[in-house]
Amino acid sequence: MTMEISPISPHFGAKITAIDLKKDLDRDTHAKLKSLLSEFAVLVFPKQFLGPADLVRAGEIFGDLMPQQLQKYVLPDFPMVGYNSTKDLPLKDGKLQVRGENYHTDHSNSVCPPKATALSAVTIPSKGGDTQFVDVRQAFDDLPLGLQEKIVHLRSLHVHESSRSPRTFTKLSEEDFAKIPKVYQPLVIRHPVSKRPALYLNTGRMEGIETMDADEGFALINSLYEHATDTKYEYRHRWAEGDFVIWDNRSVMHQANADYNPEEGRYLYRIMLEGDALQAFA
Ligand code: SIN
Repeated sequence: MTMEISPISPHFGAKITAIDLKKDLDRDTHAKLKSLLSEFAVLVFPKQFLGPADLVRAGEIFGDLMPQQLQKYVLPDFPMVGYNSTKDLPLKDGKLQVRGENYHTDHSNSVCPPKATALSAVTIPSKGGDTQFVDVRQAFDDLPLGLQEKIVHLRSLHVHESSRSPRTFTKLSEEDFAKIPKVYQPLVIRHPVSKRPALYLNTGRMEGIETMDADEGFALINSLYEHATDTKYEYRHRWAEGDFVIWDNRSVMHQANADYNPEEGRYLYRIMLEGDALQAFA
């Protein structure tokens, strides 16, 4: 059987069918899948129904698994597999507080952030709960040249929770907080495989811009975020149970949505893959 690859949006993303990720796949197929992830940035594999052990094996096609930062949402028998479950989420003023609302790239405050994240859909509500992705490579390419030249040398300090974060993060004990890193990251990164430049943004974690005063730095971050999250850069994934979706955190940002009925429940297994320290594009 030869896998079939169909683009799912104008700039990025592909649906991969005629493949069973539960089977032993040969080295050429592994290499092809890795290269598709670098090229398309989001890969959607419908009808895979991967349990935790299958998910670990599928993830290892693309790289080494990375421990979840939030150890409280990890499966006891599969320490590298986390989960996103409605049951853990608080309600505030009647609204569900989901983790991952607001576009971001995962764990940008790590020296070596995860190169990819993947979800395997177990229970999906009948309406809502989509995950949105935006292509931060195309968003950079579309900026005026003068602005590109201005921002390629800039860096931002990424922390656990920015003083101007638009979202609140899981509260940590003092002990856990002390273990959470902070690091300067380039504002424009170079993808290690495709070599394409990409905006590197996470408004929840960016503590301004290194060489700018706070207001100027946050204004620049917010204007780049507004530009990069335009719907023309978006692929919106409507989940079906059994979907396996993997994305490249150096090429896209993603966000979760709280627009579903919590009584119906939403449950996905989650893994991340080890990445290297980010390279500046300049
Ligand atoms: C995330 O990992 O950021 C959450 C994505 C989702 O649950 O839609």
